[in-house]
Amino acid sequence: MPFTISDLRQCPEFFDTVAERIWRAWWEPEGHPLAYIQTRLRENLNGSPIPFALVAHVSNEFLGTASAIASDVPARPQFTPWVAAVWVEPHARRRGIGAMLVSRAAQDCFALGFGRTYLCARPRRSGFYERLGWRTIERRVGPDRLSILIQDATPEPGEIKGSRP
Ligand SMILES: CC(C)(COP(=O)(O)OP(=O)(O)OC[C@H]1O[C@@H](n2cnc3c(N)ncnc32)[C@H](O)[C@@H]1OP(=O)(O)O)[C@@H](O)C(=O)NCCC(=O)NCCS
Repeated sequence: MPFTISDLRQCPEFFDTVAERIWRAWWEPEGHPLAYIQTRLRENLNGSPIPFALVAHVSNEFLGTASAIASDVPARPQFTPWVAAVWVEPHARRRGIGAMLVSRAAQDCFALGFGRTYLCARPRRSGFYERLGWRTIERRVGPDRLSILIQDATPEPGEIKGSRP
């Protein structure tokens, strides 16, 4: 099924759906009102490069979303940016949409000049990201005992990083 990944700024008609899915998955269980996440998500629509939200869709059919945000794990304020809020509609899973959303969010961060992106996941979900090339650097962080994973930008051909001997 061919699908498109767009920045939410280019398809704001998906705003309410993205907010509702993020809220139901991660914020409603903690007792936060939908209005709270709508306010947070609205930050994705302003002019600053981070945060941004991506939407996977076929025309006007919503398939999934992922975001890039400045900080995600309060215990690791020095890490930025983070790929977060990765969600694919249940009927559209296991077709590679999640992988594409994660990859595109990371690539967009690299295109903004970041050399590394971060991601946190519950241990049972870490394998999914590791199979996509992410590397776990820490485990059991914070009260939710999350794993922290990284992906580094691939240097452009001819670009030499690090010091010479
Ligand atoms: C996690 C989530 C985003 C994955 O989305 P997805 O679109 O199903 O992701 P993919 O299709 O890229 O990959 C999912 C699995 O399907 C497999 N897959 C991908 N394409 C496939 C295909 N054509 N046929 C069979 N399997 C396939 C992948 O290998 C992967 O397997 P793995 O989990 O063993 O690594 C989705 O399950 C979801 O929204 N879950 C609820 C929210 C959540 O937990 N988010 C992550 C928070 S850290």
